[in-house]
Amino acid sequence: MYLMNLRNQQKFGMINELKIRPASVENKKRAEGVCYSRDGTDTFLIRTILSYIGLMRGGIKMKAEILKLLREADGYVSGQQLCEKFGVSRTAVWKVIRQLQEEGYQVEAVRNKGYHIVDSPDVMTKEELDSLMDTQWAGRNIVYYDSVDSTNLRIKQMGDEGAPEGTLAVADKQTAGRGRRGRSWDSPSGSSIYMSLLLRPKIEPDQAPMLTLVMALSVAEGIMDCGDSCGNPDVKIKWPNDIIINGKKLVGILTEMSTQIDYINHVTIGVGINVNLTEFPEEIRETATSLRLECGHVVKRAPLIAAVMKRFEQNYTVFLEHGDLSGLKERDSELLVNKDREVRILGAKEQYNAYALGINQTGELIVRKEDGTEEAVYAGEVSVRGVYGYV
Ligand code: BTN
Repeated sequence: MYLMNLRNQQKFGMINELKIRPASVENKKRAEGVCYSRDGTDTFLIRTILSYIGLMRGGIKMKAEILKLLREADGYVSGQQLCEKFGVSRTAVWKVIRQLQEEGYQVEAVRNKGYHIVDSPDVMTKEELDSLMDTQWAGRNIVYYDSVDSTNLRIKQMGDEGAPEGTLAVADKQTAGRGRRGRSWDSPSGSSIYMSLLLRPKIEPDQAPMLTLVMALSVAEGIMDCGDSCGNPDVKIKWPNDIIINGKKLVGILTEMSTQIDYINHVTIGVGINVNLTEFPEEIRETATSLRLECGHVVKRAPLIAAVMKRFEQNYTVFLEHGDLSGLKERDSELLVNKDREVRILGAKEQYNAYALGINQTGELIVRKEDGTEEAVYAGEVSVRGVYGYV
């Protein structure tokens, strides 16, 4: 039972990895003896596992906190200060600094002054993400994967197993990235953001599509907060699931939920952001772009994830307070690329051209049809194209 709980903790990211490395030969022998025996000494094994896990978690946390302190400091942070704060030796602090340097952080170490972070590369690790996250709950429990099938699938599974709201799965690469309408989402390593957030909102299932718009708004704002729109104000929301920049698709959002008939168990919002991609598959080459292509320089992914989570936490609170988008719709409408444009509505039963007027407080797109009547189009049922191209 205890071990099951530990595994769950690992799945939910409270523990990064369950690898046991006995520290000494004696410990190794003892641990191995217990592993292979069936003589009832399992409690020793459990205690051994717990103590290693404690050490690992402490190490991960210390690294993230040292990073945060170095980033926030005006000048140098003394080694003594760090030793006292974490209750560890100078050697232990130095080891963390060496690890950071090996990962590519430029950390200066100056005698009698201490440590100073000069620059950090585009690092995507749990520690980097933890050290940047400035939220109460969104993205506070991060599960990071170098490679995974799909972050949406992982979050759905964690949701079923009871992971807390705000759990965020982030991957450097996906081997089975999923797009909308059964399409795949190309997810190579080292170049993009693939992340999924777990929510447990107390709303009706038919209100859930509004969450996609809450996320779309948060991603657009996060990109602008980071200055990653390169001073370009043309980051827009293409109702209801995409973010575009200069008329090309930059971000896709896939919202999935697990429900009873009238009750939401949990919602998974998956976000794919083309950050540093320079090549796209043939079929989307004309319509897709990345921040790097638009800005002309490499963009760091971890600060962008933190900025999106911060915005999402604020916007989600406003959404829950109102029970709809009335507190956000003005901003949403401002950023809506479809507004005041001719659009083609592609429904299962009918397809028609209309003029988009904006969104209402439940997130539907209000369109004026060619016969002059107005209609509210529900996000779950249609997709929208520009009459003269992608937007
Ligand atoms: C779309 O078709 O536009 C939606 C694409 C959503 C892709 C993201 S990447 C992270 C998350 N995991 C997935 O498998 N899909 C979403």
